[in-house]
Amino acid sequence: MCGIVGILGPGDKSKELIDGLSLLEYRGYDSAGICVVKDDKLLLFKKKGKIKGLQKVVGRKDLSAVVGIGHTRWATHGEPSDKNSHPHTDCTNTIAVVHNGIIENYLELKQGLIDKGHKFVSETDTEVIAHLLEEHYKGDIYEALKETIKALDGAYALAVISKDAPQRIVAARKGSPLVMGIAEDKIIFASDITPILMFTRKVVYLDDGDVVDVSGIPASIRIENGSQEKAIQVNQIDWDISQAQRCGHPHFMLKEIHEQPGVINKLCRLHIRGSDVVFPELSHIDIAGLKKIYIIGCGTAYHAGLVGKYVIERFAGIPVEADVASEWRYRDIVVEDDSLCIAISQSGETADTLAAVERFRNEGVKVLAVCNVVGSSLTRAADAVILTHAGIEISVASTKAYTAQLAIMYLLAFFLAQNRGRDVASYIADMLDVYSAVSQVIEQKNELQHLAHHHHHFGSFLYLGRNLDYPTALEGALKLKEISYIPAEGYPAGEMKHGPIALIDEYRAVVCIATDSFIYEKMHSNIEEIKARKGKIIILATSGNTHIGEEFKEVVYLPKINEAFSPILNIIPLQLFAYYVAVARGCDVDQPRNLAKSVTVE
Ligand code: G6P
Repeated sequence: MCGIVGILGPGDKSKELIDGLSLLEYRGYDSAGICVVKDDKLLLFKKKGKIKGLQKVVGRKDLSAVVGIGHTRWATHGEPSDKNSHPHTDCTNTIAVVHNGIIENYLELKQGLIDKGHKFVSETDTEVIAHLLEEHYKGDIYEALKETIKALDGAYALAVISKDAPQRIVAARKGSPLVMGIAEDKIIFASDITPILMFTRKVVYLDDGDVVDVSGIPASIRIENGSQEKAIQVNQIDWDISQAQRCGHPHFMLKEIHEQPGVINKLCRLHIRGSDVVFPELSHIDIAGLKKIYIIGCGTAYHAGLVGKYVIERFAGIPVEADVASEWRYRDIVVEDDSLCIAISQSGETADTLAAVERFRNEGVKVLAVCNVVGSSLTRAADAVILTHAGIEISVASTKAYTAQLAIMYLLAFFLAQNRGRDVASYIADMLDVYSAVSQVIEQKNELQHLAHHHHHFGSFLYLGRNLDYPTALEGALKLKEISYIPAEGYPAGEMKHGPIALIDEYRAVVCIATDSFIYEKMHSNIEEIKARKGKIIILATSGNTHIGEEFKEVVYLPKINEAFSPILNIIPLQLFAYYVAVARGCDVDQPRNLAKSVTVE
């Protein structure tokens, strides 16, 4: 939620900051703003709406300057408007700040500042930071920041500049992500590494409590945490800026759908050795003694966790509980001995997931992170980390990160099974074929587009699946509602008679996941029940299932694979269907309303 950038180093700051913000726009796009120090003044530009609106306001103004900060907003306090946009400034227009996070005690702070004569212009929590900085400013913005953050409760990633310091940026982090890039002639702060990749692959992952002072050319850098000076630890990252570009695809979502076979194949190659699965990442975890696994995640990551529950129980025989992190964090958990928490997150920055992880750690449970972002808060909080290696995911609706999480769930299940002496070699061999079946389904995209064209006008959808296909029903429905705004509900088909069947009539579209499975006959009975009530049925079936095609018109045939892997294959047509429905309805696929990719506040 919200993206911030701060850049120190010579250059055209309008281009650098706007390009940087564009790469962070998936984090929020209610409004955007930038501020630079030029001719001893703060030059501030902000605009409600997407970054292209800001770009118009900035126009061709010469903003060559050494320092600048920028922000793209997902509104929490105060509606999206020009005045609520960041950067925020103090009463004297000396100091400007951008902020990602929430200041929980802002009302109390605001009243205190108003009593001292400060004039507020916005409804945001962030503006109190600008005025607090003004209160503490005695000519040194770094010292002012250190004093200011002492008063703040809540989460923040901050970048601050002052008109009195045209070659200095100061920054601080607590609870919200902030990364610093070190390029030859520039220092870049950003909410994630994508804007940094424009300049360098050398990054420093800042920790909670870090306060950073960067000044001069060439820049000198000081990092303190709890008034202790810290050594600067530089990491070299292997992501590429091209991963953050659409590369000819009309939307990031479609590009990322296409990347899935490559990601699945890569994960298999990394973790399968002959007929064994290897996870050197787990060498510090007592796998042999494991008696219980808790899987947590939010949104799509939770759906991957549900699949994880089914496959770990099935292949390894270890009891698994899966739940959304926002529930776990407040549950009265009675944690069993010899248990492990698996936290799944694409970004590694989801606030609820991080809070639930902290609870598990406080209970003495080891945490395994399954995460896509190296150096994210989750990877640093966990005892062990398995990376999903999906590359940068930009589209708000997650696709490749999900199938990567699924692949890891299967590989983990096989690893745990082998550790318990179970023979899963034939499944491991079959998993090596899954990526090419995924490719084949992506090739069927015209068929899915056609299907979407005929169904995009439906007012609501029901997605049904059983067993391993139940999480797929949830995820398929989530994809549709996220990007097309059509109400869609995923349900375990066996529960249909306990409510959802009342919804079925000729105006209801029902997506039935009925690929080959040991429970296919049960699913088929549900389909007949829907037909009898005139629901508009779309079926996913396995190629070769001729009888279903004789009875129903809208059948999407998927290649035959080992049915144990159906979640990885079956979600692909549902991603494509959701994508083409959203396109047919004229929706903004990559930036759906009200959503943000990374939910860093509760
Ligand atoms: C948001 C995103 C989803 C994502 C969820 C969890 O809701 O829009 O795509 O699944 O957060 O995010 P995480 O980064 O923890 O996987």
